[in-house]
Amino acid sequence: MKIINIIILIGLIVWLFSCNSADNSYQVASPDGKIVVKFEVVQKQAYYSVLKNKNHLILPSKLGLRFQEMKPLGDHVEVISIQEKSFNETWEQVWGERRLIENKYDELTIKLRETNGKGRNFYIIFRAFNDGIGFRYHIPDQGNISEFRITDEFTEFKLPKIGKAWWIPAYKERFYESLYRFTPLNIPDTVCTPLTIEMGDSSFLSIHEANLTDYAAMNLYLSDTSMLTCDLTPWSTGEKVRASTPFESPWRTIIIAENPGDLITSSLMLNLNEPSKIKDTSWIKTGKYIGIWWGMHQNKYTWSQGPKHGATTANAMRYIDFAAENNFDGVLIEGWNYGWDEDWTVNGHLFEFIKPYPDFDIKKISNYAAKKGVKIIGHHETGGASINYENQLEDAFKFYQKYGVNTVKTGYVSDLLDGKEYHSSQYGVRHFRKVIETAASYHIMIDNHEPVIPTGLQRTFPNLMTQEGVRGQEWDAWSTDGGNPPDHTTVIPFTRGLAGPMDFTFGTFDFNNPVLPDTRVRTTIAKQVALYVVIYSPLQMASDLPENYSDNEAFRFIKEVPTDWEDTQVLKGKIGDYIVIARKDRQSDNWYVGAITDERERSIAINLSFLTSDSKYQVQIIADGEQANWDTNPTTFKYYNREVQSIDTLVIHLAPGGGQAMRFIPQ
Ligand code: NOJ
Repeated sequence: MKIINIIILIGLIVWLFSCNSADNSYQVASPDGKIVVKFEVVQKQAYYSVLKNKNHLILPSKLGLRFQEMKPLGDHVEVISIQEKSFNETWEQVWGERRLIENKYDELTIKLRETNGKGRNFYIIFRAFNDGIGFRYHIPDQGNISEFRITDEFTEFKLPKIGKAWWIPAYKERFYESLYRFTPLNIPDTVCTPLTIEMGDSSFLSIHEANLTDYAAMNLYLSDTSMLTCDLTPWSTGEKVRASTPFESPWRTIIIAENPGDLITSSLMLNLNEPSKIKDTSWIKTGKYIGIWWGMHQNKYTWSQGPKHGATTANAMRYIDFAAENNFDGVLIEGWNYGWDEDWTVNGHLFEFIKPYPDFDIKKISNYAAKKGVKIIGHHETGGASINYENQLEDAFKFYQKYGVNTVKTGYVSDLLDGKEYHSSQYGVRHFRKVIETAASYHIMIDNHEPVIPTGLQRTFPNLMTQEGVRGQEWDAWSTDGGNPPDHTTVIPFTRGLAGPMDFTFGTFDFNNPVLPDTRVRTTIAKQVALYVVIYSPLQMASDLPENYSDNEAFRFIKEVPTDWEDTQVLKGKIGDYIVIARKDRQSDNWYVGAITDERERSIAINLSFLTSDSKYQVQIIADGEQANWDTNPTTFKYYNREVQSIDTLVIHLAPGGGQAMRFIPQ
């Protein structure tokens, strides 16, 4: 990602050697002065607290690290010196929800020394932004500590009261594919981040992390009343992180918002990642795809060979034709290679990544795709056998590169990686990073399923396009609980979505489920279309079978909706009830708006002030039909045009489980 340096202002740098603050407390304020992070040492323990408009959002909470076979750092410390810095730049995203990102913060670095042992030094670095804060630990090179194992962090988040949180359990349910629970914070489980908390008094917090590069993912548990404590996903051997100096932890982040929409438009996580390591990003392209995919999830096809095999040469060519006719950029093909036996989800199952099944002529298919101007999206299901994958990684990417494949979907369906390590452990984090870096060297983009929760790594490696880590639309094919409830998609933009793009794969036009009739996509068709605007991913799938799409205005909207945006604004939203998002196309002056509701019918008035004043716009509207209802009548929709201006208010009517998609074209 190119830094365009509109302004870079490195402010006053102060080193206070042998610092002597009377109460041992230091603070840094956000550029607008509203958010303040305070650091203090009380009885030799390091603490931080966070205030907004002078009110506590985080009460004094411990900081520090615990080690195997070494004393902790944090509970017997003194401040040696501090450093302050102001920073302000605007950088450009290769792709995203907004082209330009303001990165403006004030930083406070505290240098600490332990008082009861070897006198080891370490730093805690705080950044205060206008939309929240981040902090990280740094252990520099020094004589008394080199290689070490972290067993825990002290890191706490002590809230001033018991707010209400949207959460999913860590460890118990797989791959973050859960329905969010909304309960008071007295949560009995260890939970995943991002953890979104409503504190009342117009205050929303989201606790997560940024730049998870060679460390374990952070989970949280309630260690005391309204006190969340960091829990790092362990290695199978019990320790959490293996490291050596110089060492930097990921950033611990708290987005602080006055309304739920501001959680979504925060750039805090991206700003706390490193700029792009890929210099020439011209090969990285957003786009839309179809796939030999839904058919497998609905048992029409199989991944493995046999009479119902989906990835045959003839079927692949049929999908390529459909993609070319309808302007899709790519065709995902799953189940083309050896390894899809009955037991492919059993730990340790070995896939082969350069050996196509005999009925899949990859040369013929790739030539055909190239002739039609369509890209094949490759697939590497590993069954969680990451060592087997790493052993073949270079060859696997070389093979795809040879056939013109520039995007690969990876998959890790298995309780544990290599039969023993959590996906969110340092073991998993290292593996996922290696795949992204290796893919970049072959100019291959990645769509990572069953990932570790994202933390903004796409800023550093913009070939990491999208990830799953969410209960996506495939659950509507085979889940025995009926499928995703209508409110699910009104929750995830404010929870999992804060961690980055989601490969949710909407686009259902045929709501029948021949295998499990009581399980199905629980939306209206207009909501399916609106989701392309509401839920962001630089790669978006039209997931239904080609034969289920009819040449109507709803399908036309899917074909034409962009996947890369100049700007994003959340016009209205209540977590779990509804959301209305406006996005401006990066290639034109068109605006797109997506509105969705939960199971309740509702009317929402939106102000069109995001449009350029003094222009007239034609708005093309895909709305729920008169009697539309996710349960009884999902397929009815209306299409109509209107003329509007920025001073107008538009009332959107949403059916139960419904939605509305709009395109505003300047006249
Ligand atoms: C689970 C993934 O989410 C899905 O998209 C894929 O089709 C299957 N695994 C098989 O790899």
